[in-house]
Amino acid sequence: MKKLFSAPTTVNLELTELCNVKCRHCYNFWRDESIGHETIKNDKIDDLIAKLSVAGVFHVILTGGEPFANYPLLLGAIKSISKHKMSMSVNSNLMIVTKEKLSELRSLGLDHILTSLPSPDPKLNDFIMNQKGSLDKIISGIKMAREADIRVSVNMVITRQTKDQVFDAGKLVSDLDCQKLFVTRSVPPTYSDASQDDNYSLTEFEQKKCLDDAIRVKNEFNIAIGTLVSYPLCFLEDLEKYSDFVGRGCPAQAGHRMSINANGNVHACVHEEESYGNLMFQSVEEIYTTRMRKWHNRSFHYKGCEGCRYIDICESGCSMTSLAINGAHETKDPLFKGFHVFKKHYNVNNKEKLKNIINDETRFMVPQRIRFRKENGFYLINARWGNTITIDTEIAEELIKFQTTQNKIRLTSNSKLSLDVLADLFFKDIIESDNLDNSKKESIQGLGFNFDSLEITA
Ligand SMILES: C[S@@+](CC[C@H](N)C(=O)[O-])C[C@H]1O[C@@H](n2cnc3c(N)ncnc32)[C@H](O)[C@@H]1O
Ligand code: SF4
Ligand code: SF4
Repeated sequence: MKKLFSAPTTVNLELTELCNVKCRHCYNFWRDESIGHETIKNDKIDDLIAKLSVAGVFHVILTGGEPFANYPLLLGAIKSISKHKMSMSVNSNLMIVTKEKLSELRSLGLDHILTSLPSPDPKLNDFIMNQKGSLDKIISGIKMAREADIRVSVNMVITRQTKDQVFDAGKLVSDLDCQKLFVTRSVPPTYSDASQDDNYSLTEFEQKKCLDDAIRVKNEFNIAIGTLVSYPLCFLEDLEKYSDFVGRGCPAQAGHRMSINANGNVHACVHEEESYGNLMFQSVEEIYTTRMRKWHNRSFHYKGCEGCRYIDICESGCSMTSLAINGAHETKDPLFKGFHVFKKHYNVNNKEKLKNIINDETRFMVPQRIRFRKENGFYLINARWGNTITIDTEIAEELIKFQTTQNKIRLTSNSKLSLDVLADLFFKDIIESDNLDNSKKESIQGLGFNFDSLEITA
């Protein structure tokens, strides 16, 4: 049975449609006609954010358009998110930031920005963003953000024009002291006829080469890599080699995500034009548990995926790409290969490796950063930022007790916390130990994989 949530865990909140540039690949569906005109009113932002908090949302991503195009609004949003004790991140092209603004936001709790960097080649970057000197402006913005002690991740959208530039982008991003490079498959914008638009149709070989180049980036420059748009897992074939791209599948189908436009219209996926309600007049739950449910109840799965062991992680790849290419969500992702092709399965968390370093004497604690949300028949547990997984009720309630008392975890005969479970929890960044290097687990395997919904042994 798939676990259905009462509300999303992470929300993308678009503050304004306004943007200082006009990227050719931008998914915002009004992009081809105008620079956008909607902006959330300053006096509405606190109400909207309060609604997210009431619903139990853990993490808010402020986006646009360009959020820095309306700084007072961005400032108000960040103050409000801090007040409601949710974590946050901002998506920004960083081209119109100042040191003062970044420092002010940092002091209010903003600790991460995801920036766009379409190409490391200045001319191509200008062409894609429709603005001269665009790359230098992004680079200068990244430097200012790092000086303000804000972590920066970089998103590079892969199109036919940029497919050979992943390695150069990785080098640049590493030189700028960024933490992660996302090599993101482009979702064809709804305003372009994707079945005709050559810029979005990379061959399988070309797509794979981008991922291979990203792996070289990780190995040579020691930075994290990933993708913001999911790949069908059967496209990856070797899930050990491509473990950085396994991730958590489609966050909208998993039920984690909701996306809100500047006029209040609510979508499941940021790439989506269909709206399920308006947050200015309705509550999160009202929209999420009714009209949006079709995203969560497997109705977008492609029939060729029936019987696949990864179905609840992969959810048939990216259903917005299927919609753009074939005209319907529940159709074949163009990168689908079928579940007979797997060469190597996902080694869920190298549990054996972990179990070798954990024993009865290892003492764990539940840090205060861990957040819990009770659902019908299970709990959601948030490790930090947008990293949330489902967890068994009894385990969650034991963990809550240990967090409240701040006592070290003890294994007793009537406890559900076995060594096996502790290894899982340690791997997922949910418990910490003074005896172990807490940073080690991240290098063992990626953080984003929800092993809770999958029982696979290596
Ligand atoms: C729409 S932008 C808004 C925030 C800000 N203006 C920026 O570009 O960072 C949010 C993210 O969506 C990504 N994006 C835009 N169009 C896309 C597409 N067609 N496919 C995949 N990602 C896309 C951008 O690279 C950016 O990281
Ligand atoms: S900077 Fe962001 S919002 Fe602006 S056009 Fe580019 S992708 Fe779209
Ligand atoms: S068969 Fe379907 S669910 Fe399975 S990995 Fe491929 S696309 Fe994903």
